[in-house]
Amino acid sequence: MGRLISIASGKGGTGKTTTTANLSIALGKLGFKVCAVDADLTMANLSLVMGVDDASVTIHDVLAGRSPITGAIYATAFENVSLVPAAIDWEHVIRADPRKLPDTLHELKDMFDYVLIDSPAGLQMDAMNAMLSGEEVVLVTNPEISCLTDTMKVGMVLKRAGLVVLGFVLNRYGASENDIPPDVAEEVMEIRLLEVIPEDPKVREATLEGVPVVEYKPKSEGAKAFMRLAEKISRIAGIKAKVMR
Ligand SMILES: Nc1ncnc2c1ncn2[C@@H]1O[C@H](COP(=O)(O)OP(=O)(O)OP(=O)(O)O)[C@@H](O)[C@H]1O
Ligand SMILES: [Mg+2]
Repeated sequence: MGRLISIASGKGGTGKTTTTANLSIALGKLGFKVCAVDADLTMANLSLVMGVDDASVTIHDVLAGRSPITGAIYATAFENVSLVPAAIDWEHVIRADPRKLPDTLHELKDMFDYVLIDSPAGLQMDAMNAMLSGEEVVLVTNPEISCLTDTMKVGMVLKRAGLVVLGFVLNRYGASENDIPPDVAEEVMEIRLLEVIPEDPKVREATLEGVPVVEYKPKSEGAKAFMRLAEKISRIAGIKAKVMR
């Protein structure tokens, strides 16, 4: 049985899509069979980040009852990594029923070791449908106080809803001298810190190339941090994750 993990945050732009893409590829490199899902139904961009631009059937078609989920799974250029893309045009968005996301994505559980769900930010319905499709959650935050408290709020809601909160990723650390240090962030959040991902220009550069940094520049600090994150998550076995709840 695979693991369904939502990638979530309180505020937008913290690095959820970047984390989904890099974590997927990193887990693929470790030998796991992975499926990355773009569940940001109105502002989809995971396909762009992962270099898939020719998908004809998307999650929107599945949520509109026009295709089974198996018809929307694409191979990527990355070893062991598949992708369920989302459409970007409004016509598809309005036909899709986001409430079907949890049941739809559950079907992927038997097909992969890991299903990573790139979610919209916040606690609105679209975000809730995406996040609640996971059984576990990795929170992504930046080292700023309002970002930490918003992410904490999301963590509390998801825990109450029955998800296992694996921990949080402190992303873009080191961009400012006012950044909240990792140990303080962990204390404020009262959630386990999984990994610190530094602010790294190579991450952005990689995004522009459509090749996430773990593949684009594996020796960069950003890439190494995403690899460590993958190793850590793979070591938290599914059963142990249940106990942590
Ligand atoms: N560690 C990092 N170092 C430098 N740039 C980064 C890092 N992480 C993410 N970025 C950049 O920050 C921007 C936002 O990242 P991303 O799109 O992953 O955020 P998001 O949380 O998915 O946003 P949204 O809430 O809009 O979906 C992107 O341009 C990305 O390349
Ligand atoms: Mg995103």
